[in-house]
Amino acid sequence: MSGPCVRVSAPIPEAGLRILGRAGLEIRMGGLEVRGVDALLCLLTDRVDARLLERGDRLKIVANMAVGTDNIDLAAARRLGIPVSNTPDVLTEATADLAFGLLLAAARRLVWGDRLVRTGGFTGWAPMLGLGMDVVGRTLGIIGAGQIGRAVAARADGFRMEVLLTDKNAGVPLAELLERSDFVSLHVSLTPETHHLIGERELRRMRPHAVLVNTARGPIVDECALVRALQEGWIAAAGLDVFENEPELAPGLADLPNVVLAPHIGSATVGTRNRMAEIAAQNVVAALEGKPIPNLVR
Ligand code: GLV
Repeated sequence: MSGPCVRVSAPIPEAGLRILGRAGLEIRMGGLEVRGVDALLCLLTDRVDARLLERGDRLKIVANMAVGTDNIDLAAARRLGIPVSNTPDVLTEATADLAFGLLLAAARRLVWGDRLVRTGGFTGWAPMLGLGMDVVGRTLGIIGAGQIGRAVAARADGFRMEVLLTDKNAGVPLAELLERSDFVSLHVSLTPETHHLIGERELRRMRPHAVLVNTARGPIVDECALVRALQEGWIAAAGLDVFENEPELAPGLADLPNVVLAPHIGSATVGTRNRMAEIAAQNVVAALEGKPIPNLVR
């Protein structure tokens, strides 16, 4: 019988592979074939459903290199007795930075301005050119008061913003937060309860000058409703790092001048991605050595 081996679904930072190698694991690179392997190290873009998990005849862990685990059928994993782990904490600051960056970019029309300059449309300073929104002293509504939501709140403090928080049944009611906020930033996990948490009704509750920021998961927002909201002025702008059917965009989204789009790079700093790979690898090694899994998802 061969020694323990791990399937790594796609190239990840070397730092993670080193940990797997040092633990004496055979690494099988690429894809999601789990038959005959002891561990699967996968990405948020891998759909790990019940059928896939059932093929794992000796699977002892599914280690996601992400904090979100909405790509994994957790109920099926539980039923089959396969532990699932994630990479929390390490990506909090990087993701909060990106959320705040999108907020500022949308408020101050940075992408519009960049395009204007590059295409030769900038003919000199003008009193009315590129007017955006003030940020300091405005109200920021944060939906989801977990680590990332609270890290965004800490940044808002530096901008002397009033922060409204809502989380499950705590904090300000969602409707009130939407009605009072100048900026709304999403920081909940994607679950059946949060799917389309922000739809037409919620977007219509927001203020016409408001900006929506999503660095959480695309399906939390009804993207077609958001396109209409931005076209028809129910809200002023949006900053999006995630999309409902990634990497596809809802029809019309990319044509809007009042949306800033990023390619799901919330955790994409060199240091953060290295740490995420290391943590995912450490979870694999712990599971295969029969030790407690540091970041077990319950
Ligand atoms: C990124 O989206 C993550 O869940 O880690």
